[in-house]
This record gives sequence, C-alpha cells and structure tokens, in this order.
Amino acid sequence: MKYFIITGASKGLGEATVQHLLQENHHLICIARTENEQLVQEAHESGVELRFIHEDLSKYDRVTEMVRDVLHSIEMEDVEEIYFINNAGMVDPIKPAGKAEESLVTKSIHLNLLTPMLVTNEFLRITESWPCKKVMVNISSGAANRPVFGWNTYGTTKAGLDMFTKSVGLEQQFATYPTTLLAFSPGIMDTDMQGIIRQTNKEDFTSVDVFKNYHEKGELRSPSFVADKMLGLILSDQIENGRVYDIKEFI
Ligand SMILES: NC(=O)c1ccc[n+]([C@@H]2O[C@H](COP(=O)([O-])OP(=O)(O)OC[C@H]3O[C@@H](n4cnc5c(N)ncnc54)[C@H](OP(=O)(O)O)[C@@H]3O)[C@@H](O)[C@H]2O)c1
Repeated sequence: MKYFIITGASKGLGEATVQHLLQENHHLICIARTENEQLVQEAHESGVELRFIHEDLSKYDRVTEMVRDVLHSIEMEDVEEIYFINNAGMVDPIKPAGKAEESLVTKSIHLNLLTPMLVTNEFLRITESWPCKKVMVNISSGAANRPVFGWNTYGTTKAGLDMFTKSVGLEQQFATYPTTLLAFSPGIMDTDMQGIIRQTNKEDFTSVDVFKNYHEKGELRSPSFVADKMLGLILSDQIENGRVYDIKEFI
C-alpha cells in the first residue's frame, strides 16, 4: 500500500492533492485544523482509507508526538511507499518589518518552518530502518528567492525551508535506507491564500495591484493542475535528493 500524509489538506493545494490520490491501494492521512467533509465522503464512496487529524500545526510542541502517533499507527510491513507532504502554510503577517504583530511573526515561523523541520526529524528517526521508498515534500514559494515588500516573514520561512531541504537531502545520501527530500515551488495558484494577498493594503504590500491583475487576467493556476504535476514528480523515480523544484519545469 502507498501511504500519503498531507498537511493543510482541508483546502487549496492540499485538498487538490488529496483529490488526485483518492485511489484504491492508497492510504491517506490528512492533517489540518478543519476537516474537509467532502473529501471524507468521497473517500468513503470510493473505498479509499482516509483519516482526518485535527491539529493546529503552529503549535510546534505537539508535532513530534503527532508524527510518532501517525507512524506508529502504520504497520511497516504494509508500506510499499510512504510520502509526507508538508503543505500547510500561512502568508501572514503581510507587513513591513517594524509594523508586524509579534504573535503572527512567531506563528508563521512555527507553521511554515519549525513544524516541517520537526516533522522531518521525527519521521527520519522512526523510519530509519524502513527499506521502502520514502519521500518528504516541502511546499516552497518563489518568495524564497527574492525579497518582496511586506513578505519578509513569509519569504524568510520559505528560504529556510529550502535550505533545510537541501541540507537534509545531502545528509540522507549517506543513510542506509535514505529518505528523498525535495522542495516544490508551486507558483501562483487560485486559492484562499491569494484572496488574503489581494485584500492587503498597498502600504503593507506594494505589489498588491500586480496580484489583483493576476487574478483578473486568469493567470493563477488551478491547485488541481499544480497537484497533478507535483504528484507526477514525486511518484516518479526521477527525484534528486535535496533539490528545490519549480512548477515552471513541468509546464
Ligand atoms: N497560493 C499560492 O499562490 C501559493 C504560492 C506559492 C506557495 N504557496 C504555498 O502552497 C502551500 C498551500 O497553500 P494554499 O494556497 O493551498 O493555501 P490555503 O488555500 O490558504 O490553504 C492552506 C492550508 O494550510 C492549512 N493550515 C493553515 N494554518 C494551519 C495551522 N495552523 N495548522 C494546520 N493547518 C493549517 C489550512 O487548513 P486549516 O485552515 O483547516 O487549518 C489549509 O488546508 C503553502 O505552503 C503556501 O505557502 C502558495
């Protein structure tokens, strides 16, 4: 059986990813603060095993135990392939430094960066002796590579996630049963996150009109299209350990 653990599975790219994975022989574990009842229903109707775990992933002190519980609920002998997709993320605070709320800066770093690091740490510890295919995916952003006015926290978390992916990918090349790590930059997608971006004040985010234009001109990709390309990559045998991939390579 193929196991997929997907964070931020309630909407956007996470939901679209789960929708593509509703297939026989797949076991899906979805994590978010809110349950997507439609996904649960669809899985039930198609006879796919899907479990929804309610968790606030910005509460980093719960993460290690959560990963332990999830992995201990799986029989190693049952696993042909296992994928952990760190997709949950937040774009707030969209504010220049000096104006951001401390609590939002902290929450963003916990959710976007610290949680995927702790997930990886515990996943690698527990699955060290698992001989099956093991893949850890970190959803990145173009904001990791260029400064954007107002996105200092978001861009920093994604740049950190890219470097973490590269570093652990390097380390895993020396493991007896390596896990393959990759980061995937999905480009601009038509999700709730883009709605939040468009609602920002110009003084907090000087490029807000550019993003309104993307939306008006229909330039945002559908999360379903992006999920399809990402899954095509991770299910293949062509992944380079520690590499940061970009959706543009697949269109
Ligand atoms: N949309 C874009 O244009 C774009 C561009 C580049 C990169 N990305 C990245 O792509 C990924 C998915 O983004 P999206 O556009 O699909 O965003 P979205 O529509 O806002 O969905 C975010 C997902 O993360 C979950 N989430 C948020 N805070 C959480 C928390 N504290 N605990 C647990 N889950 C939490 C949400 O679930 P709940 O609210 O139910 O908890 C939801 O399922 C993110 O990592 C984002 O940074 C997006």
